[in-house]
Amino acid sequence: MSTAWVSRYAHRAKNAGSSAIRELLKVTSKPDVISFAGGLPSADAFPVQRFQEACEKVLREQGAHALQYGTTEGYEPLRELIAANMARYGIKAHTENVMITSGSQQALDLIGKLFIARGDRVLVEAPTYLGALQAFTTYGAEYMSVPVDGDGMITEALEKPLRARPKFMYVLPNFQNPSGVTLSEGRRHQLLILADRYGIPIVEDDPYGQLRYEGEHLPPLVVIDRENLRRDNGYSIGNVIYLSTFSKTLAPGLRLGWIVAPPEVIAKLVQLKQAADLHTSTFIQYVGYEVARDGFLDRHVKAVRELYRERRDVMLAALAEFFPPEATWTRPHGGLFLWVTLPESCDSRILLQSALQEDVAFVPGDCFYATPGDGARRHMRLNFSSATPGQIREGVRRLSLALRRELVMA
Ligand SMILES: Cc1ncc(COP(=O)(O)O)c(C=O)c1O
Repeated sequence: MSTAWVSRYAHRAKNAGSSAIRELLKVTSKPDVISFAGGLPSADAFPVQRFQEACEKVLREQGAHALQYGTTEGYEPLRELIAANMARYGIKAHTENVMITSGSQQALDLIGKLFIARGDRVLVEAPTYLGALQAFTTYGAEYMSVPVDGDGMITEALEKPLRARPKFMYVLPNFQNPSGVTLSEGRRHQLLILADRYGIPIVEDDPYGQLRYEGEHLPPLVVIDRENLRRDNGYSIGNVIYLSTFSKTLAPGLRLGWIVAPPEVIAKLVQLKQAADLHTSTFIQYVGYEVARDGFLDRHVKAVRELYRERRDVMLAALAEFFPPEATWTRPHGGLFLWVTLPESCDSRILLQSALQEDVAFVPGDCFYATPGDGARRHMRLNFSSATPGQIREGVRRLSLALRRELVMA
């Protein structure tokens, strides 16, 4: 090991650690292991042929442009398509409100870079998306957490932390990763009222919003944002920065996401993105546009919903069949995950070791807490999108064996 380099790591790199869980979960690549651990979309959902045709068409008709450097903001027709798509959900963004990113993960990193100075506080849900914590922690974020219940973030518990003036709130309103819960409409309004009262902006991360399997679509925070009411000039974007991605609707290997923000914020993000990677792959943006256009995205999302709804239902049925009555779980209306709460005597990290002996894996709940959470270790996140229905049933059965063994020993 080169000590000359190791002793020179910057403070931000010292904050970034590889987790013990990641080491444990390496075994999930073994063929016999059924993994509910990753957040992977199903490979069965990838529209491979459409991609193949799109690649050929782009190279045939626009090869010279598609293989050239592009603008940092992103390929204009793709930004227009995204803006038009979001308009159907009430988000009235103009093209200049939209910047393409290399996945939403890059959006989170750029937001961290733009807003977080060392020691700044960010208000997050407990639990929340681990990748956001990784991105923000690199810039020295400290956290305040507000717990989540079956209706999403408990807005009744927000005022006290808001008085401590966090830089911003990071919120996952739809089928939250990891818990699968959705912020109720009443709480969405309450959240915006409080955000406005205390002058604290919101980053709304919405990778799963289109993957709803039941119930009515709820208005995004960026739409409810009270700034909308004040401004009628077409920029519906005020105190909320909105993020989404094609990772869960088309394919995560594309690395195509986007940020919706006021133009002045986009201008700053453009400078930071320039420093990071100049722009997201031109070729991939052309291909993504070609794939999504002419209504394909909508038709495809409908098929993906069918596929995942069935898998969710298989997992719910298997949990009801095999799990002991002391365990409870969420019933997500969309997304890729559900969240199990184990009996008080159980520790999900210990359960994971035992589950791996049964060749089944999940992520223990405490990984998703920014601050030590009450009973964090009683939870586990189960992904239902990537395994087949047969594997889901068998995996839940195996998991129940490990759980019953732990319960006997507890
Ligand atoms: C809540 C949330 N935000 C962002 C991301 C990152 O997605 P992308 O593949 O677009 O980088 C994920 C991925 O799982 C996620 O669950």
